[in-house]
Amino acid sequence: MNRILVIGAKGMLGRDLMKELQLSFSDDEVLGWDIDEIDIRKEQETVTKIEGFRPAIVINLAGYTDVDGCESNEQEAFAVNADGMRHVAMGVRRCGAKVIYLSTDYVFDGEKDKPYLEDDPPNPLSIYGRSKWKGEQSVLKLAGDGLIIRTQWLYGGHGRNFVTTILRQAKEKKVLSIVNDQIGSPTYTVDLSRAIALLIRKKASGIFHVTNSDICSWYDFGQAILRLSGMEEVKVLPISSGELNRKAARPSYSVLSTEKFKQEIGIKLRPWSEALKDFLSIPQKEMASV
Ligand SMILES: NC(=O)c1ccc[n+]([C@@H]2O[C@H](COP(=O)([O-])OP(=O)(O)OC[C@H]3O[C@@H](n4cnc5c(N)ncnc54)[C@H](OP(=O)(O)O)[C@@H]3O)[C@@H](O)[C@H]2O)c1
Repeated sequence: MNRILVIGAKGMLGRDLMKELQLSFSDDEVLGWDIDEIDIRKEQETVTKIEGFRPAIVINLAGYTDVDGCESNEQEAFAVNADGMRHVAMGVRRCGAKVIYLSTDYVFDGEKDKPYLEDDPPNPLSIYGRSKWKGEQSVLKLAGDGLIIRTQWLYGGHGRNFVTTILRQAKEKKVLSIVNDQIGSPTYTVDLSRAIALLIRKKASGIFHVTNSDICSWYDFGQAILRLSGMEEVKVLPISSGELNRKAARPSYSVLSTEKFKQEIGIKLRPWSEALKDFLSIPQKEMASV
């Protein structure tokens, strides 16, 4: 029996991943920690706690994930996303475990016009992207067979995200303005959790890009959310990122090539529109906790 430790287990992805791992690795012990059990900003605490638990695999999802918030809290962003990952990698190294780190499309600048490959050079536009890239570097430096999974545009049933925001706003307003000049692939946390389990089974290491298939803009995504929720009467206006004027710059084209994942695992994740339909079929009452 192996021990699998998830750090950041109470976050949006963490909750679905815990469920998936408990099913897929039912012969193993799967344990979830979050900020109440471990603060990865603290080196000694992190190393000692991980070493004491003696896990075979540690999956680090813990992060400072407020992309705009990172712009005004650079120190905190690096403390969690970069130093935190380094502390986890140090603990993992002490017990000879494997580490898995969840990273982001925001390590890229979006200047490419073809899907980003795993070995394309990062050039983050934001503090969030820079701090996550630094976290990646710790994995590559400290953890020999470490696995970095870059993903994007996550939504799911256990946290605030674009889908829940659109559904909430649609109840309050007749017209929504959504950016149409950023392109990516919305990714359902349930599908991503399954993909992570498959990569673990395959003992994959190095960098992998994992998202649902097909691409769209946030504007297209927003329209699909309203259509699939029977709220077509809400009007959607396309606007530019400049008009939205957010603190952090985002890549305009951050499509991640998932070809390497397909080669390794033999499947692609389903199109984002199918996954969204599934997510929206969950009764609203169950989503009320979101
Ligand atoms: N969401 C996306 O679209 C997206 C896209 C690409 C990559 N990712 C990456 O995927 C991972 C999971 O994302 P998510 O959306 O599920 O994030 P999330 O919901 O923000 O979950 C992160 C969890 O980490 C906890 N945490 C924060 N600081 C910590 C610390 N110092 N020590 C221990 N735990 C700490 C958070 O607790 P509090 O809530 O109390 O702060 C939260 O429970 C993150 O690493 C993120 O960078 C996310």
